[in-house]
Amino acid sequence: MRCDKRLVVLALVLASMLVLVGCGSEAATDTAEETQASAGDVAALPEVDAVASKTGWALMQEKCTVCHPIATVNEARLSWEEWKTAVGHMLDNGATLTDAEQQAVLEYLRTRDEVFATGPSVFQQECMVCHTTQRVNEAAYDWTGWETAVDHMIANGAQIDQARRAVIVEYLAIRGPQ
Ligand code: HEC
Ligand code: HEC
Repeated sequence: MRCDKRLVVLALVLASMLVLVGCGSEAATDTAEETQASAGDVAALPEVDAVASKTGWALMQEKCTVCHPIATVNEARLSWEEWKTAVGHMLDNGATLTDAEQQAVLEYLRTRDEVFATGPSVFQQECMVCHTTQRVNEAAYDWTGWETAVDHMIANGAQIDQARRAVIVEYLAIRGPQ
């Protein structure tokens, strides 16, 4: 497995994080079965630029669907270097994006896979404190709708910092209806 070294480092970081997370947990009774999975990925929380990611994602629906379905982009698992090359390749193929639009698209793609990897556990850790996932699964919002909903939760007492807010909003927006 090619990321063995990273896993070892991650495990060490986690060992120290678990102590901190364990002390600060405010989990309510119905979160017991969820908490096991939650601590791990928080150590690898991606740094999401919430505004650029949202812009980039919206641009992709418009600009990257001219020649192929959005699934071509969603299903591609490329490294950061490969994404830069691929987007350049699409421009050569005839895609029309300004420099600013390219930056936004690339910013979204840079952290997309990490958001998918960490989103479920961050979401469970932060959003199952007061109610179950059912409450969330019943709501079908777009990206802006999830921003509003999560901010509503924060106004109601959910203690979620900006880094986690960005991951949760993007994860819920991208995963689509349940
Ligand atoms: C003008 C037409 C066109 C537009 C617009 C376009 N593509 Fe493509 N794309 C292609 C063609 C043709 C292929 C298949 C051949 C190839 O790989 O060049 C492709 C293939 C791909 C692939 C799979 C191949 C690979 O490199 O892994 C990805 C990923 C991709 N496109 C991403 C994008 C993204 C992201 C955008 C928007 C920024 C975009 N495309 C916009 C024409 C386009
Ligand atoms: C501090 C407690 C608390 C936390 C933490 C919390 N919620 Fe809520 N949530 C509530 C309460 C109370 C309601 C019902 C009252 C309401 O709708 O304002 C609710 C209702 C909801 C609803 C249904 C109403 C709507 O706005 O559509 C959704 C969806 C929702 N929460 C999503 C979330 C998400 C996503 C998270 C994590 C980011 C979260 N909640 C975290 C307290 C919380």
